[in-house]
Amino acid sequence: MTAYLKLDHISKSFRRGSTETEVLRDINLGIDKGEIVSIIGHSGCGKSTLLNLIAGLTPVTSGGVLLEDREVNAPGPERAVVFQNHSLLPWLTVYDNVALAVDKVFGDTKSRAERRSWIMHNLDLVQMTHARDKRPSEISGGMKQRVGIARALAIEPKILLLDEPFGALDALTRAHLQDSVMQIHASLKNTMIMITHDVDEAVLLSDRIVMMTNGPSATIGEVLDVRLSRPRKRLDLVADRAYIAARESVLKFLYERHRFVEAA
Ligand SMILES: Nc1ncnc2c1ncn2[C@@H]1O[C@H](COP(=O)(O)OP(=O)(O)O)[C@@H](O)[C@H]1O
Ligand SMILES: [Mg+2]
Repeated sequence: MTAYLKLDHISKSFRRGSTETEVLRDINLGIDKGEIVSIIGHSGCGKSTLLNLIAGLTPVTSGGVLLEDREVNAPGPERAVVFQNHSLLPWLTVYDNVALAVDKVFGDTKSRAERRSWIMHNLDLVQMTHARDKRPSEISGGMKQRVGIARALAIEPKILLLDEPFGALDALTRAHLQDSVMQIHASLKNTMIMITHDVDEAVLLSDRIVMMTNGPSATIGEVLDVRLSRPRKRLDLVADRAYIAARESVLKFLYERHRFVEAA
């Protein structure tokens, strides 16, 4: 059986003037339906580039992205992206931000009433129905990320792509959102690829952690299976041997074997 999502010998180079830099080299990975996979690596190694390639926002230089055995090389509603900076439209309410995406994708297939209840259902999934009439400037950073997640979920993507979605949030807000993501995943069983540079977040949420080597020409260094049963509770994990071991192997990868060297 082939993977649900397959990254097949992907390489990516950027050209600036006459110089070409290879950012990613020979990335191979298969992701199963329903899996949560985290991608972790030092700043600048090419994580966002990889996510953008999967999203179809950036073309690959060689290789291919295959979703259910079909090559995808342009953006599409079956892959939704949540960025670190919410990217909500400031002049629209919370409800209308989600509605914009829902109308675009389901305008022809769902009635107005169906779309309305679908939007509310997705706002409810992220506990944001109370703020439906607020504008982005009137809600907190954590709430904005919740709306961004609702908007992404509302188009029913096959793959949810998250690029450091909680990176700009304080620790407590971050923990609440991580719990929400785990609850959503428990009920929807959606496939997620999440970029993070937070080792605890990666271990808490993931089925597998993909560890990237440093760039240029970054590639997958190791893939760690996180064998922790779900539902996962952060307090119970603090003293869990499997959790501690997983955390240690990611830390060792990042800080012993692939230490970050700041560019001059
Ligand atoms: N559009 C682009 N044009 C040229 N270089 C780029 C472009 N996007 C990213 N890069 C370069 O690719 C490398 C990886 O960037 P990025 O994927 O953003 O890293 P990360 O998300 O891991 O911090 C960096 O050296 C960055 O400067
Ligand atoms: Mg990035």
